[in-house]
Amino acid sequence: MNKVIILAAGEGTRMKSNISKVLHKLCNRPILSYMIDASIESKVDEVIVIVGNNEDQVKEAFGDRVKYVKQEIGEGIPYGTGYAVKLAEDFIGDNDNILVLTGDVPLISKETLVGLMDKQNKENNLATVLTADFEDPSGYGRIVKDAKGQFKKIVEHKDCSPEELKVKEINSGIQVFNGEKLRYALNKLDINNSQGELYLTDVFGILQEEKGKIDTYKLSDNEEIMGINDKIQLAQVEKVMRRRINESYMRDGVILENPETITIEKGVKIGKDTIIEQNTKILGNTEIGEDCLIGMNTRINDAKIGNNVTIFSSFIDQAIVGDGSDVGPFARLRPKAELKENVHVGNFVEVKNAVLDDGAKAGHLAYIGDADLGKRVNVSCGVIFSNYDGKNKFRSTIGDDAFLGANVNIVSPINVADKGFLAAGSTITRDVAEGELAVERSEQKNIKGYYTRKFGE
Ligand code: UD1
Ligand code: CA
Repeated sequence: MNKVIILAAGEGTRMKSNISKVLHKLCNRPILSYMIDASIESKVDEVIVIVGNNEDQVKEAFGDRVKYVKQEIGEGIPYGTGYAVKLAEDFIGDNDNILVLTGDVPLISKETLVGLMDKQNKENNLATVLTADFEDPSGYGRIVKDAKGQFKKIVEHKDCSPEELKVKEINSGIQVFNGEKLRYALNKLDINNSQGELYLTDVFGILQEEKGKIDTYKLSDNEEIMGINDKIQLAQVEKVMRRRINESYMRDGVILENPETITIEKGVKIGKDTIIEQNTKILGNTEIGEDCLIGMNTRINDAKIGNNVTIFSSFIDQAIVGDGSDVGPFARLRPKAELKENVHVGNFVEVKNAVLDDGAKAGHLAYIGDADLGKRVNVSCGVIFSNYDGKNKFRSTIGDDAFLGANVNIVSPINVADKGFLAAGSTITRDVAEGELAVERSEQKNIKGYYTRKFGE
């Protein structure tokens, strides 16, 4: 079997954060999720994550997609990549190939993982190490080879001789081992090194004594092993991730304006010829149809947007927008807002847990919460659904072709039947039957000579 062990127990102190490093987000998904996805997509049989003090949060994030091994972290407790892998010994079978990844290299591709494991399988190696040539290799373990170019060992930066420091080929921290040999070598590790840790990389030195070959597999694109140790690198890696994701949408026919400013979460679906303008975020489980215009500064999360929809500078969360509708600028669709077809929601309109049927219009400055609006309902400027009495929420229903005049206040629950007409400025507390006009306001009085009486001639 092919199994992956992902090391994610470290404290990530350089992140200076209360959040575990591997749970920091890149394009709205945890760093660790990218490695888990790449592992699963490269068809490994089992993914084991070594967790530390972040155990609860990591388990909450990934549930039963992976298996977990807990590493105690603290003063006086052994530490090191070799120690961490050893904790997963029970998962390491004699005939398994064990791929070990660190938890902070989210740009690694499934193609690379597959290539590395294929090489290990085909050549029946003791181990195969993913390496890269770095102009500046400082900080990394060096790949030391003999005169014939055969792999000899890996030496950590802090343990390198002056000669070894000059080596530009580095250990990516990603490697695959024959299970039986790995278990054997893990049990021979010691802490005789500058950091007093059990180094996984010492496994290679130990396996030198064994019959068989250790080989290297060199990366073609060094970007893939950019690691994240602090928030500067977090931003750098996110930039690459954003570009990769955005390019995949552009290849599929989506138009992105200033793509470096647009964040799209992996897994979002967007139809062809839809245009996404700058500074927009499209997140979560969102689907957008074809020929839409998603205007600048929009944020869409977990929403379903049909075809030919226009959205300008708006916030949309867990809402549905039907074909031909338009939203914004500066509108807010909150959870369970549903606009059917050709609905118009204009500036400063908020919709929550409400359905607006085909052709309904709310052009400006309105709050529509907990309501069902029929076809072609007109919601004028300033309409408010007073859906909350301080304790409970109430729902109102408005029939087809009803007209809600400016500044109407609907004190829910209210039923307005089809073609009901609510006069501007009315506070509606009783139901309105089909075709009725409801007026609720005191009669207007005009008082002559008022200005002069107050201010003089
Ligand atoms: C490691 C390699 C080095 C390689 C580099 C690539 C070793 C000894 N060195 O060094 O050759 O060039 O990666 O980035 O393996 N972790 C645990 N438990 C532990 C120790 C570490 O889960 O007890 C996790 C950390 O959270 C981290 C990863 O393992 O995600 C790597 O550990 P780290 O100590 O950062 O190794 P490096 O010094 O980067
Ligand atoms: Ca280290």
